[in-house]
Amino acid sequence: MNNKKNILEVDFSLIKRVLLRVDFNIPIDISNRKISDASRILASIPTIKYLLQQGCAILICSHFGRPNGNYVEEFKLDIISSKLSELLGQDVTQLDDCIGLDVEEFSKKMQPGEIAVLQNLRFHSGEESNESEFAKNLSKLADLYVNDAFGVAHRNHASMDKISNFIPMVSGLLLKKEIDIFSSILQSPERPLLSVFGGAKVSDKLRVIESLSSVVDVMIIGGAMSAPFLILEGLKVGDSFVEEGAEESVEKIMKSISKNHCEIILPDDFIISDSFSEKSNIQTVDKDSIPSGWRIMDIGPKSVQKFIAQFYLSKTLIWNGPMGVFEWEKFSSGTKLLAQAIGSLNECVSVVGGGSTVEAISFFGLSDQISHVSTGGGASISFLEGSTLPGIKSLLDN
Ligand code: 3PG
Repeated sequence: MNNKKNILEVDFSLIKRVLLRVDFNIPIDISNRKISDASRILASIPTIKYLLQQGCAILICSHFGRPNGNYVEEFKLDIISSKLSELLGQDVTQLDDCIGLDVEEFSKKMQPGEIAVLQNLRFHSGEESNESEFAKNLSKLADLYVNDAFGVAHRNHASMDKISNFIPMVSGLLLKKEIDIFSSILQSPERPLLSVFGGAKVSDKLRVIESLSSVVDVMIIGGAMSAPFLILEGLKVGDSFVEEGAEESVEKIMKSISKNHCEIILPDDFIISDSFSEKSNIQTVDKDSIPSGWRIMDIGPKSVQKFIAQFYLSKTLIWNGPMGVFEWEKFSSGTKLLAQAIGSLNECVSVVGGGSTVEAISFFGLSDQISHVSTGGGASISFLEGSTLPGIKSLLDN
Protein backbone atom coordinates (compact mmCIF):
# COMPACT_ATOMS: atom_id res chain seq x y z
CA MET A 1 0.00 0.00 0.00
CA ASN A 2 2.69 2.47 1.08
CA ASN A 3 5.48 1.72 -1.36
CA LYS A 4 7.78 4.52 -0.24
CA LYS A 5 11.02 3.86 1.61
CA ASN A 6 11.18 4.76 5.30
CA ILE A 7 13.98 4.90 7.88
CA LEU A 8 13.20 1.41 9.20
CA GLU A 9 14.34 0.06 5.82
CA VAL A 10 17.64 1.96 5.69
CA ASP A 11 21.04 0.43 6.46
CA PHE A 12 22.66 3.10 8.63
CA SER A 13 26.12 1.53 8.80
CA LEU A 14 27.57 4.03 6.28
CA ILE A 15 25.38 6.99 7.21
CA LYS A 16 26.89 9.49 9.62
CA ARG A 17 24.87 12.68 9.19
CA VAL A 18 21.15 12.89 8.59
CA LEU A 19 19.20 15.98 7.55
CA LEU A 20 15.78 15.62 9.13
CA ARG A 21 12.92 17.77 7.77
CA VAL A 22 10.19 18.31 10.36
CA ASP A 23 7.17 20.61 10.54
CA PHE A 24 7.83 22.84 13.55
CA ASN A 25 5.30 25.41 12.32
CA ILE A 26 3.61 25.57 15.70
CA PRO A 27 1.30 28.05 17.43
CA ILE A 28 3.00 30.65 19.62
CA ASP A 29 1.12 32.85 22.08
CA ILE A 30 2.07 36.32 20.87
CA SER A 31 1.42 37.96 24.25
CA ASN A 32 4.28 36.08 25.98
CA ARG A 33 6.14 34.36 23.08
CA LYS A 34 5.42 30.95 24.65
CA ILE A 35 4.62 27.80 22.67
CA SER A 36 0.89 27.17 23.01
CA ASP A 37 0.80 23.69 21.48
CA ALA A 38 3.91 21.49 21.27
CA SER A 39 2.20 18.51 19.58
CA ARG A 40 4.21 18.82 16.38
CA ILE A 41 7.49 18.81 18.36
CA LEU A 42 6.35 15.77 20.34
CA ALA A 43 5.34 14.03 17.11
CA SER A 44 8.90 14.35 15.76
CA ILE A 45 10.53 12.66 18.75
CA PRO A 46 10.14 8.96 17.78
CA THR A 47 12.06 9.60 14.54
CA ILE A 48 14.76 11.62 16.31
CA LYS A 49 15.21 8.85 18.91
CA TYR A 50 15.39 6.16 16.22
CA LEU A 51 18.09 8.12 14.34
CA LEU A 52 20.04 8.60 17.57
CA GLN A 53 19.88 4.84 18.22
CA GLN A 54 21.37 4.30 14.74
CA GLY A 55 24.36 6.43 15.78
CA CYS A 56 23.62 9.40 13.51
CA ALA A 57 24.35 13.08 13.98
CA ILE A 58 21.11 14.91 13.22
CA LEU A 59 20.61 18.29 11.56
CA ILE A 60 16.97 19.29 11.88
CA CYS A 61 15.36 21.71 9.45
CA SER A 62 11.91 23.29 9.35
CA HIS A 63 9.93 26.30 8.24
CA PHE A 64 8.11 28.48 10.78
CA GLY A 65 5.51 31.10 9.81
CA ARG A 66 5.56 32.97 6.54
CA PRO A 67 8.61 35.30 6.57
CA ASN A 68 8.60 35.44 2.72
CA GLY A 69 12.31 34.92 2.15
CA ASN A 70 13.41 37.46 4.81
CA TYR A 71 15.33 36.98 8.05
CA VAL A 72 12.59 37.90 10.54
CA GLU A 73 13.45 37.83 14.24
CA GLU A 74 9.98 36.64 15.37
CA PHE A 75 10.19 33.58 13.08
CA LYS A 76 13.55 32.32 14.34
CA LEU A 77 13.40 28.71 15.48
CA ASP A 78 15.31 29.33 18.74
CA ILE A 79 12.42 28.91 21.21
CA ILE A 80 11.40 25.74 19.41
CA SER A 81 14.87 24.20 19.58
CA SER A 82 15.00 25.03 23.32
CA LYS A 83 11.70 23.19 23.79
CA LEU A 84 13.03 20.24 21.80
CA SER A 85 16.13 20.14 23.99
CA GLU A 86 13.92 20.14 27.11
CA LEU A 87 11.70 17.34 25.75
CA LEU A 88 14.66 15.20 24.69
CA GLY A 89 16.70 15.92 27.81
CA GLN A 90 19.82 16.64 25.77
CA ASP A 91 21.68 19.60 24.28
CA VAL A 92 20.45 20.90 20.94
CA THR A 93 22.52 23.51 19.09
CA GLN A 94 20.61 26.26 17.30
CA LEU A 95 22.41 27.47 14.16
CA ASP A 96 21.82 30.90 12.67
CA ASP A 97 21.35 29.85 9.06
CA CYS A 98 20.35 26.75 7.13
CA ILE A 99 22.88 26.88 4.27
CA GLY A 100 26.35 28.30 3.67
CA LEU A 101 29.98 27.56 4.47
CA ASP A 102 29.67 28.01 8.24
CA VAL A 103 26.80 25.54 8.43
CA GLU A 104 28.67 23.09 6.17
CA GLU A 105 31.78 23.31 8.35
CA PHE A 106 29.68 22.78 11.47
CA SER A 107 27.94 19.72 9.98
CA LYS A 108 31.26 18.07 9.09
CA LYS A 109 32.41 18.27 12.70
CA MET A 110 29.25 16.79 14.21
CA GLN A 111 29.64 13.65 16.30
CA PRO A 112 27.23 10.68 16.53
CA GLY A 113 24.33 11.52 18.85
CA GLU A 114 24.70 15.29 18.36
CA ILE A 115 21.64 17.35 17.35
CA ALA A 116 21.52 20.79 15.74
CA VAL A 117 18.58 22.80 14.42
CA LEU A 118 19.11 24.86 11.27
CA GLN A 119 17.55 28.32 11.09
CA ASN A 120 14.12 28.75 9.42
CA LEU A 121 14.20 27.46 5.81
CA ARG A 122 11.79 30.21 4.73
CA PHE A 123 14.38 32.91 5.54
CA HIS A 124 15.64 32.02 2.04
CA SER A 125 13.29 32.66 -0.87
CA GLY A 126 14.69 29.56 -2.62
CA GLU A 127 12.71 27.35 -0.24
CA GLU A 128 9.26 28.46 -1.37
CA SER A 129 10.30 29.00 -5.00
CA ASN A 130 11.58 25.39 -5.09
CA GLU A 131 14.99 26.60 -6.25
CA SER A 132 17.59 24.00 -7.27
CA GLU A 133 20.57 25.99 -5.99
CA PHE A 134 19.03 26.30 -2.51
CA ALA A 135 18.13 22.59 -2.46
CA LYS A 136 21.64 21.65 -3.58
CA ASN A 137 23.21 23.74 -0.81
CA LEU A 138 20.96 22.11 1.79
CA SER A 139 21.79 18.64 0.53
CA LYS A 140 25.52 19.24 1.14
CA LEU A 141 24.94 18.97 4.89
CA ALA A 142 24.21 15.24 5.17
CA ASP A 143 24.36 11.75 3.67
CA LEU A 144 20.61 11.06 3.90
CA TYR A 145 17.49 13.23 3.91
CA VAL A 146 14.66 12.09 6.17
CA ASN A 147 11.34 13.76 5.51
CA ASP A 148 9.01 13.68 8.50
CA ALA A 149 7.07 16.88 7.71
CA PHE A 150 3.62 15.66 6.69
CA GLY A 151 2.10 19.08 7.50
CA VAL A 152 3.94 20.71 4.60
CA ALA A 153 4.14 17.72 2.20
CA HIS A 154 1.53 19.35 -0.08
CA ARG A 155 3.76 22.36 -0.75
CA ASN A 156 5.95 22.40 -3.84
CA HIS A 157 8.92 23.76 -1.91
CA ALA A 158 12.64 22.98 -2.23
CA SER A 159 12.77 20.92 0.98
CA MET A 160 9.86 18.79 -0.27
CA ASP A 161 10.71 18.49 -3.94
CA LYS A 162 14.02 19.70 -5.48
CA ILE A 163 16.14 18.43 -2.59
CA SER A 164 15.48 14.87 -3.71
CA ASN A 165 17.47 15.58 -6.92
CA PHE A 166 20.59 15.90 -4.80
CA ILE A 167 20.27 13.52 -1.84
CA PRO A 168 18.23 10.32 -1.26
CA MET A 169 14.98 11.06 0.58
CA VAL A 170 13.17 8.56 2.83
CA SER A 171 10.28 9.06 5.22
CA GLY A 172 10.54 9.32 8.97
CA LEU A 173 8.20 7.46 11.32
CA LEU A 174 5.60 10.24 11.49
CA LEU A 175 5.30 10.72 7.74
CA LYS A 176 5.14 6.92 7.32
CA LYS A 177 2.30 6.73 9.85
CA GLU A 178 0.32 9.53 8.18
CA ILE A 179 0.76 7.95 4.72
CA ASP A 180 -0.24 4.49 6.06
CA ILE A 181 -3.39 5.79 7.77
CA PHE A 182 -4.66 8.00 4.95
CA SER A 183 -3.86 5.38 2.27
CA SER A 184 -5.69 2.69 4.20
CA ILE A 185 -8.76 4.98 4.43
CA LEU A 186 -8.71 5.49 0.66
CA GLN A 187 -7.79 1.95 -0.34
CA SER A 188 -9.10 -0.58 2.16
CA PRO A 189 -11.11 1.02 4.97
CA GLU A 190 -13.08 -0.99 7.49
CA ARG A 191 -16.69 -0.31 6.48
CA PRO A 192 -19.06 1.40 6.97
CA LEU A 193 -16.84 4.41 6.34
CA LEU A 194 -18.30 7.71 7.53
CA SER A 195 -17.00 11.19 6.82
CA VAL A 196 -18.08 14.22 8.83
CA PHE A 197 -17.59 17.68 7.35
CA GLY A 198 -18.14 21.04 8.98
CA GLY A 199 -16.75 24.57 8.87
CA ALA A 200 -18.03 27.64 7.10
CA LYS A 201 -17.14 27.37 3.43
CA VAL A 202 -18.31 24.66 1.03
CA SER A 203 -15.75 25.76 -1.56
CA ASP A 204 -12.86 24.85 0.79
CA LYS A 205 -14.16 21.29 0.97
CA LEU A 206 -15.61 20.91 -2.54
CA ARG A 207 -12.79 18.86 -4.05
CA VAL A 208 -12.29 16.63 -1.04
CA ILE A 209 -16.04 15.97 -0.70
CA GLU A 210 -16.36 15.15 -4.40
CA SER A 211 -13.41 12.82 -4.25
CA LEU A 212 -14.43 11.14 -0.97
CA SER A 213 -17.99 10.56 -2.15
CA SER A 214 -16.66 7.68 -4.27
CA VAL A 215 -15.06 6.08 -1.20
CA VAL A 216 -17.27 6.74 1.84
CA ASP A 217 -20.60 5.05 2.59
CA VAL A 218 -22.16 7.90 4.54
CA MET A 219 -21.36 11.62 4.65
CA ILE A 220 -22.50 14.01 7.36
CA ILE A 221 -22.45 17.73 6.56
CA GLY A 222 -22.85 20.06 9.52
CA GLY A 223 -21.67 23.50 10.57
CA ALA A 224 -22.50 26.71 8.71
CA MET A 225 -21.60 24.98 5.44
CA SER A 226 -24.91 23.10 5.64
CA ALA A 227 -26.80 26.37 4.90
CA PRO A 228 -26.52 26.19 1.08
CA PHE A 229 -27.74 22.58 1.25
CA LEU A 230 -30.88 23.82 3.05
CA ILE A 231 -31.35 26.49 0.37
CA LEU A 232 -31.27 23.71 -2.25
CA GLU A 233 -34.10 22.03 -0.32
CA GLY A 234 -36.06 25.28 -0.67
CA LEU A 235 -35.60 26.38 2.96
CA LYS A 236 -34.74 29.85 4.28
CA VAL A 237 -31.48 30.34 6.20
CA GLY A 238 -31.99 33.92 7.49
CA ASP A 239 -28.71 35.82 7.75
CA SER A 240 -26.54 32.68 7.85
CA PHE A 241 -23.17 32.94 6.12
CA VAL A 242 -23.45 31.65 2.56
CA GLU A 243 -20.45 32.31 0.36
CA GLU A 244 -20.81 33.40 -3.26
CA GLY A 245 -20.97 30.44 -5.62
CA ALA A 246 -22.00 28.02 -2.85
CA GLU A 247 -25.09 26.93 -4.77
CA GLU A 248 -22.97 25.71 -7.67
CA SER A 249 -20.63 23.81 -5.33
CA VAL A 250 -23.57 22.15 -3.58
CA GLU A 251 -25.08 21.05 -6.89
CA LYS A 252 -21.76 19.49 -7.89
CA ILE A 253 -21.56 17.70 -4.52
CA MET A 254 -25.12 16.37 -4.77
CA LYS A 255 -24.41 15.07 -8.30
CA SER A 256 -21.31 13.23 -7.21
CA ILE A 257 -23.06 11.85 -4.10
CA SER A 258 -25.94 10.46 -6.14
CA LYS A 259 -23.58 9.05 -8.81
CA ASN A 260 -21.62 7.20 -6.13
CA HIS A 261 -24.69 6.06 -4.15
CA CYS A 262 -23.28 7.60 -0.99
CA GLU A 263 -25.79 8.58 1.71
CA ILE A 264 -25.79 12.23 2.84
CA ILE A 265 -27.04 13.33 6.28
CA LEU A 266 -27.75 16.98 7.09
CA PRO A 267 -28.67 18.68 10.39
CA ASP A 268 -32.35 18.84 11.44
CA ASP A 269 -31.98 21.76 13.86
CA PHE A 270 -29.62 24.57 14.76
CA ILE A 271 -28.59 27.01 17.46
CA ILE A 272 -29.02 30.40 15.86
CA SER A 273 -28.12 33.92 17.00
CA ASP A 274 -29.24 37.44 16.16
CA SER A 275 -25.68 38.66 15.52
CA PHE A 276 -22.21 37.22 15.05
CA SER A 277 -21.15 37.84 18.62
CA GLU A 278 -20.49 35.92 21.81
CA LYS A 279 -23.05 38.11 23.54
CA SER A 280 -25.85 37.68 21.01
CA ASN A 281 -29.34 36.35 21.79
CA ILE A 282 -29.74 32.71 20.88
CA GLN A 283 -32.48 30.15 20.25
CA THR A 284 -32.74 26.56 19.05
CA VAL A 285 -34.91 26.01 15.97
CA ASP A 286 -35.75 23.33 13.43
CA LYS A 287 -34.10 23.66 10.03
CA ASP A 288 -37.30 25.01 8.45
CA SER A 289 -37.78 27.77 11.04
CA ILE A 290 -34.73 30.05 10.77
CA PRO A 291 -36.15 33.61 10.94
CA SER A 292 -34.68 36.45 8.91
CA GLY A 293 -32.09 38.41 10.89
CA TRP A 294 -30.83 35.23 12.56
CA ARG A 295 -27.88 33.03 11.60
CA ILE A 296 -26.66 29.44 12.09
CA MET A 297 -23.96 29.29 14.82
CA ASP A 298 -24.06 25.60 15.82
CA ILE A 299 -26.02 22.42 15.19
CA GLY A 300 -28.93 21.69 17.55
CA PRO A 301 -29.55 18.74 19.94
CA LYS A 302 -31.62 16.65 17.49
CA SER A 303 -28.82 16.84 14.94
CA VAL A 304 -26.23 15.91 17.57
CA GLN A 305 -28.24 12.79 18.46
CA LYS A 306 -28.76 11.82 14.84
CA PHE A 307 -25.07 12.23 13.99
CA ILE A 308 -23.89 10.31 17.06
CA ALA A 309 -26.26 7.43 16.23
CA GLN A 310 -24.49 7.24 12.87
CA PHE A 311 -21.06 7.15 14.55
CA TYR A 312 -22.04 3.96 16.37
CA LEU A 313 -22.87 2.25 13.05
CA SER A 314 -19.45 3.06 11.56
CA LYS A 315 -16.14 1.20 11.58
CA THR A 316 -14.05 4.08 10.23
CA LEU A 317 -14.73 7.79 10.70
CA ILE A 318 -12.95 10.81 9.24
CA TRP A 319 -13.76 14.21 10.67
CA ASN A 320 -12.90 17.56 9.14
CA GLY A 321 -14.42 20.88 10.22
CA PRO A 322 -16.23 22.02 13.40
CA MET A 323 -20.03 22.08 13.75
CA GLY A 324 -20.18 25.65 15.01
CA VAL A 325 -18.23 28.55 16.48
CA PHE A 326 -16.80 26.22 19.15
CA GLU A 327 -14.45 28.85 20.59
CA TRP A 328 -17.53 30.59 22.12
CA GLU A 329 -19.14 28.56 24.89
CA LYS A 330 -22.71 29.19 23.67
CA PHE A 331 -21.97 27.63 20.30
CA SER A 332 -19.56 24.90 21.37
CA SER A 333 -21.93 22.08 22.31
CA GLY A 334 -22.35 20.56 18.82
CA THR A 335 -18.61 20.24 18.21
CA LYS A 336 -17.88 19.23 21.80
CA LEU A 337 -20.54 16.51 22.01
CA LEU A 338 -19.49 15.01 18.67
CA ALA A 339 -15.82 15.09 19.74
CA GLN A 340 -16.67 13.37 23.03
CA ALA A 341 -18.74 10.74 21.23
CA ILE A 342 -15.92 10.05 18.76
CA GLY A 343 -13.52 9.75 21.67
CA SER A 344 -15.73 7.12 23.29
CA LEU A 345 -16.06 4.85 20.23
CA ASN A 346 -14.49 1.45 20.85
CA GLU A 347 -14.84 -0.34 17.58
CA CYS A 348 -14.28 2.49 15.17
CA VAL A 349 -11.02 3.93 13.85
CA SER A 350 -11.32 7.71 14.09
CA VAL A 351 -9.13 10.08 12.13
CA VAL A 352 -9.25 13.83 12.63
CA GLY A 353 -7.56 16.14 10.12
CA GLY A 354 -7.67 19.82 9.31
CA GLY A 355 -6.43 22.79 11.32
CA SER A 356 -9.58 23.94 13.13
CA THR A 357 -10.84 20.43 13.88
CA VAL A 358 -7.52 19.47 15.46
CA GLU A 359 -7.66 22.73 17.39
CA ALA A 360 -11.20 21.90 18.60
CA ILE A 361 -10.17 18.42 19.73
CA SER A 362 -7.26 19.81 21.70
CA PHE A 363 -9.42 22.72 23.03
CA PHE A 364 -11.76 20.10 24.58
CA GLY A 365 -8.77 18.03 25.83
CA LEU A 366 -9.76 14.96 23.79
CA SER A 367 -6.67 14.46 21.56
CA ASP A 368 -5.63 11.29 23.42
CA GLN A 369 -8.98 9.63 22.78
CA ILE A 370 -8.92 9.84 18.99
CA SER A 371 -7.22 6.99 17.07
CA HIS A 372 -5.27 9.41 14.90
CA VAL A 373 -5.07 13.20 15.06
CA SER A 374 -3.24 14.19 11.89
CA THR A 375 -0.37 16.70 12.05
CA GLY A 376 -1.38 17.94 8.60
CA GLY A 377 -4.27 20.31 7.89
CA GLY A 378 -3.96 21.24 4.22
CA ALA A 379 -1.82 18.15 3.61
CA SER A 380 -4.48 15.73 4.89
CA ILE A 381 -7.13 17.42 2.71
CA SER A 382 -4.85 17.23 -0.35
CA PHE A 383 -4.16 13.56 0.36
CA LEU A 384 -7.86 12.75 0.67
CA GLU A 385 -8.59 14.70 -2.53
CA GLY A 386 -6.31 12.23 -4.28
CA SER A 387 -3.67 14.89 -5.13
CA THR A 388 -0.01 13.97 -5.52
CA LEU A 389 1.87 15.47 -2.59
CA PRO A 390 5.41 16.63 -3.58
CA GLY A 391 6.87 15.62 -0.19
CA ILE A 392 5.61 12.05 -0.67
CA LYS A 393 6.27 11.74 -4.40
CA SER A 394 9.94 12.66 -3.81
CA LEU A 395 10.56 9.79 -1.39
CA LEU A 396 12.58 6.86 -2.73
CA ASP A 397 10.45 3.97 -3.91
CA ASN A 398 10.77 0.88 -1.86
C1 3PG B 1 0.78 24.08 8.27
O1 3PG B 1 0.89 24.51 9.42
O2 3PG B 1 -0.33 23.87 7.73
C2 3PG B 1 2.03 23.71 7.52
O3 3PG B 1 3.15 23.87 8.30
C3 3PG B 1 2.13 24.46 6.22
O4 3PG B 1 2.30 25.81 6.45
P1 3PG B 1 1.95 26.87 5.31
O5 3PG B 1 0.46 26.83 5.14
O6 3PG B 1 2.49 28.18 5.78
O7 3PG B 1 2.64 26.39 4.05
